[in-house]
Amino acid sequence: MTRPAVLILLGPPGAGKGTQARLLQDRFGLVQLSTGDLLRAAVAAGTAAGKQAKAVMDAGGLVSDEIVIAILSDRMRDEDCRNGVILDGFPRTTVQAEALDGLLASTGQRINAAISLEVDDSAMVERISGRSTCAGCGEGYHDTFKPPQDGNRCVKCGSTELTRRADDRAETVASRLEAYHAQTAPLIAYYEAAGVLRSINAMAQIDKVSGDMTEVVETILN
Ligand code: AP5
Repeated sequence: MTRPAVLILLGPPGAGKGTQARLLQDRFGLVQLSTGDLLRAAVAAGTAAGKQAKAVMDAGGLVSDEIVIAILSDRMRDEDCRNGVILDGFPRTTVQAEALDGLLASTGQRINAAISLEVDDSAMVERISGRSTCAGCGEGYHDTFKPPQDGNRCVKCGSTELTRRADDRAETVASRLEAYHAQTAPLIAYYEAAGVLRSINAMAQIDKVSGDMTEVVETILN
């Protein structure tokens, strides 16, 4: 039996993890699991975990490993994850990476690749401050780099309700980048040592990054 694929997208805030994960999801039939989206859903639902996470997320820090690992492990057990997953924004600490290794070992799975999106920090504030998301289907947009149709219409579902994230402020982006370099960037070496690291130049235009990403994923999955 073929094992379900497990891909990890690594990269700082604004690198394009969500944008590329959605494209890979459509192309390869894998499910995008974004811990940021799962946490925002928990905040919106007012769960105990969501209440604890909210202040940390608003300040641009990392939510506790315990909360994030619990949310992610639960979601990975869902039926739709059986064909494979793209982890977007998880793991973000060595503790989370080790927990993922344990979780996959217990189900006979393994990581096919950890793809690092290489970008310059200096471009990330512009990317993040221009971002909007369709409230209808979750498609992501950018005022300059990927504008919605007619200025406010989602190309995918036609909704005109586009939202901006509470943590997409310049001062919070600085904290998020700091957290990335201190706690998440060391995972590049972690996955290099595990022999599963791939790197992509994510400073190129979205279509070019997507083409490079598809090539890498096709090689990995074939
Ligand atoms: P999360 O939601 O994961 O946010 P993030 O990692 O900060 O990443 P972003 O969603 O900001 O960026 P992205 O890389 O997905 O870029 P996107 O594709 O949208 O996490 C939010 C918070 O939740 C964290 O700060 C933390 O508090 C908490 N959290 C989440 N996971 C956690 C974990 N595992 N542990 C602990 N805490 C956790 O692109 C950005 C913009 O740029 C878009 O507008 C897009 O259209 C545009 N764009 C994309 N690619 C390009 C390109 N190539 N050229 C030009 N523009 C582009």
